[in-house]
Formats: sequence, C-alpha cells, structure tokens
Amino acid sequence: NIGQSTNIVWHKSSVDKLARQELLQQKGCVIWITGLSGSGKSTLACALSRALYSRSKLSYILDGDNIRHGLNRNLSFKAEDRAENIRRIGEVAKLFADAGIICIASVISPYRKDRDACRAMLPVGDFIEVFMDVPLQICESRDPKGLYKLARAGKIKGFTGIDDPYEPPLNCEVTLQYNKNNCTSSPNDMAETVISYLEQKGFLQ
Ligand code: PPS
Repeated sequence: NIGQSTNIVWHKSSVDKLARQELLQQKGCVIWITGLSGSGKSTLACALSRALYSRSKLSYILDGDNIRHGLNRNLSFKAEDRAENIRRIGEVAKLFADAGIICIASVISPYRKDRDACRAMLPVGDFIEVFMDVPLQICESRDPKGLYKLARAGKIKGFTGIDDPYEPPLNCEVTLQYNKNNCTSSPNDMAETVISYLEQKGFLQ
C-alpha cells in the first residue's frame, strides 16, 4: 500500500455537524456548478453567495480557476489531472458542508464520473448539481479571457468544448438554460432559482 495512508483512526469531535448547523441556522451542503468555460459559473457563484449573505446565510466559493492557483497548482488539464482536481475540490467541499457551510463549487468538471464521485462523498440530497446549459457558440462569443481564441488557433491544446470533451449532466437538480429572448436569466435571477431550491429543501431553515 505504498502511497496510501494506513493504520489511521477517525477522531470524532464533541461539537458535531448538527450543533454547528444549529449555530448557523442553516444546513451545510454543496452546490456544484458545472458547465463550459464562459458559461457563467463564477458569475452565478458570486451572485448566489451575495444573495445568501444578504439572508444572513454563510457560504464559501471554491472556484476552479482560484483553487488551481494554490491547492491544485500542480495539476494540468489532462483527464487524470482534471479528475484529481475534482476529487480534491469534492473533498474540500465535503469538509465545508460538514462545517455547516453552504459550499459553492464552480468548476468545469467535464466528466460525469468525476462529478458523480463527488456526489457519492456526501449524504443523499446534500449535493446539488447546477448545470449552466449554455451553448458552446455563446460561450465562445463571450470569450472573457480570450482562451477560446487561443484554443482555436491551436495555442492551447485540450480546451474543453474545442478539442476536449464536456459531458452534460443527465440528472441534475437545477438546469439554468441560456435563452437569448428570456430576460429573466440575469445572474441575480439565476441565483434566486437556486435559492428557491435551497428553501424548498430546507437548507436555509
Ligand atoms: S476542470 O476541467 O474542472 O478541471 O477545470 P477548472 O479547474 O474548472 O478550471 C477551468 C479554468 O481553467 C482555464 N483553462 C482551461 N479550461 C478548460 N480547458 C483547458 N485546457 C484550460 N486551460 C485553462 C479556464 O480559465 C477555466 O476557467 P472558467 O472559469 O471555466 O472559464
């Protein structure tokens, strides 16, 4: 078992998740925002965190781009490194949820099996998958960081949606669809859709 922890024992804390949730007046969970680059994941995460804050609910954002500056700085974008990126973010999100915090993970997470593995880490119902269902051509036309342009020019290899896969969720809790005629899909409105889900499921108490 070289490379794996052995002879380890789980220690329980006398202040448990229920006590922390009671203190915070909310239920810890993971809101997992998945979608292509430029689909609005980070924008939604910020709007959602702000909307929760204004309701005195504690949340914390784990943004793929940001986590790759620190904890996951040693990971590339090849499939196995993306899997490890998602696994680590899933484990950290699980700790936040256990702390009683509403953890908002905003990561491309292109592979279904990696997202499902994170779902399986949490109690049933506590993993809320939110799909930013925005067509590639819209994301590409936005191109906020100029990365699609570089990918099309062959200067970035393995870019999600261009020459690397994205597997959309089959059964997610919330789908936020892009509809150019629908003026209800502002970031704040999308955040409210997620808030309604949280309220309905009793996460905000
Ligand atoms: S993943 O697939 O979940 O591991 O990706 P993630 O950790 O969310 O990081 C995505 C951000 O990294 C930038 N970037 C790339 N994205 C996709 N493919 C490739 N090859 C790539 N290289 C760099 C990009 O800015 C992504 O940010 P977002 O916010 O999604 O646009």
